[in-house]
Amino acid sequence: MTTFFGDNRFKFGVFGINCAGGMTPSRAPERWRADWNEMVAVAQLADEAGIEFLLPIAKWHGLGGLADMWGRSFETFTQAAALGAQTKRTGLFVTAHVSLITPAFAAKAIATLDHATNGRAGLNIVCGWNPDEFKPHGIKLDGEHRYARGLEWFKIYAKLLEGGPKFDWKGQYFDLEGLITDPLPLQQPMPPVMSAAQSGDGQTFAAQAADILFTTMQDMSVTKSTVEHLQNSAAAFGRRPEVYVQTQFVCKPTRKEAEEYVHYYAVEMADPDAVEYFARQRRSTMSASTKIGGTALDRELAATLSGEKPRRFPGMFAGMYPVIGTPDDVVEVLQKVASLGVSGSTLVFLNYLQELPYFIQEVFPRMERAGLRAAVPALANEPV
Ligand SMILES: Cc1cc2nc3c(=O)[nH]c(=O)nc-3n(C[C@H](O)[C@H](O)[C@H](O)COP(=O)(O)O)c2cc1C
Repeated sequence: MTTFFGDNRFKFGVFGINCAGGMTPSRAPERWRADWNEMVAVAQLADEAGIEFLLPIAKWHGLGGLADMWGRSFETFTQAAALGAQTKRTGLFVTAHVSLITPAFAAKAIATLDHATNGRAGLNIVCGWNPDEFKPHGIKLDGEHRYARGLEWFKIYAKLLEGGPKFDWKGQYFDLEGLITDPLPLQQPMPPVMSAAQSGDGQTFAAQAADILFTTMQDMSVTKSTVEHLQNSAAAFGRRPEVYVQTQFVCKPTRKEAEEYVHYYAVEMADPDAVEYFARQRRSTMSASTKIGGTALDRELAATLSGEKPRRFPGMFAGMYPVIGTPDDVVEVLQKVASLGVSGSTLVFLNYLQELPYFIQEVFPRMERAGLRAAVPALANEPV
């Protein structure tokens, strides 16, 4: 049984364990290495704790710099299926670059994963931002039209999962014949769809395709209106996506320990060349309309590139909201975030296996007392 859309007021997705570096551009030696057995251990910790889902990153190229973050990465469909066999209730998102796989492949693969995991599959649709990742596939990423193409891709995928008779598709980007898929997924009408976007184009896409929208939270004072804006745009398409934000946790018994640790790995041990490469590549595929408006994230990235404004934590991604402190501090921040209409966030640590157990042990019971999460039954009592 999936816990994706369970009753917890604040939900979590462990983000990035399939890639070396996880989501932290740091060269600290204890950084995440994406060792398979450690990935399984984290997946099982998440499963036991009732964490809603695991969210992998689809990557085909590292970020260079001193640590070459993401240079090592496991493919997301196959790793989700394998982790599904080692877990019982956590949701398993796959991340699909829609320029690399066809809607018919995705529909069949998602249905396979959904049956194999008793209804725990989810699809994170990504339209791409790094042209270098597409070169090994012989594909030129079209930044201007990537979301329009992605939306047509999603419409074909969704129609396939309706399960009707064979159909052909002639659109602006796809010309396909004989589309049909069987079996359909267990989750109906389809497994949850996620999209992550800050740009106007990206959000328009998400409003039409997503059940979960991931966005950034540069500044909490504007988050409530961001959530309202997103949900209003989605309402025009008959959707009400849950909004999640990106958070990175540094949680220690004392504030001093947490602050020293984050200073060590995200300042002293930052990998600035990796972040600069990320910023440059991302900006190179921005559409004309995004360039004009810009987003808070892109303004931060531009400042990084120009060297105008040093970032507080150069060893964290722009757009990743740092939550630093004791378990009580963490819960206080999460209460504030939940009060803005946000449904959940990413669980990101420098080293997931070293840091997640303490987080589960200390933060989860406090979240239960604060009404943000409910206790889960022990896995031994859960049907497989
Ligand atoms: C939670 C989350 C997960 C993402 N996963 C991936 C991924 O696995 N692969 C990828 O290439 N991009 C990924 N992205 C990047 C987005 O899909 C998107 O390309 C990027 O945020 C630029 O979006 P925008 O300029 O349209 O706002 C992710 C972003 C977020 C916030």
